[in-house]
Amino acid sequence: MLCLRSETHPGWIDVAVTHPDEILIDHAHCEKKAAAFALALINRYPERMRLIKDMIDLAKEELDHFEIVVKVLEERGVALTKDTGNTYAQRLHEHIRKAEPLRLLDALIVGAFIEARSCERFSLLADHAPTEEMRALYKSLLASEAGHYRAYTDIAREYFPVEEVKARLEEFGSIEADIIASLTNQPTMHG
Ligand SMILES: [Fe+2]
Ligand SMILES: [Fe+2]
Repeated sequence: MLCLRSETHPGWIDVAVTHPDEILIDHAHCEKKAAAFALALINRYPERMRLIKDMIDLAKEELDHFEIVVKVLEERGVALTKDTGNTYAQRLHEHIRKAEPLRLLDALIVGAFIEARSCERFSLLADHAPTEEMRALYKSLLASEAGHYRAYTDIAREYFPVEEVKARLEEFGSIEADIIASLTNQPTMHG
């Protein structure tokens, strides 16, 4: 799917379907952090108009998703607890180069990979989540996460040569696959 080199370990969905509340809580935090990441890019690159416009749209959508997931939690009588962090995303972020403009390119590609992996996991949940309500939720979110992957890669191609973007997507493809292979099937969206 998209830029991904590997599929999620089948053991993850087994854990996810037996821990729906934990998945929803972590998912809510993922949506909130996706909105915050888009705003952070606007903050860091105020002179890049294309980026600003696309990140405004993306931040709004992610905040809408956060609201939707919070509502599902409320309906289930589950409180949103503190964010316990996301090792997968942190490990991807460690590979972002420090010097500009490479930092921008890598941040956009990391954004793209997180969206692509979320999209893959949403599609598993759309098929296997334990309630009809949850399956419908993940089905409804799939298309927009795929759209977010495209938004990040399109912005990258706006500001960097196509070949450079392609080469870095390939490098991050193997980095991301290594991170995925090291995961231990936790009841989190990227666990
Ligand atoms: Fe989202
Ligand atoms: Fe997204």
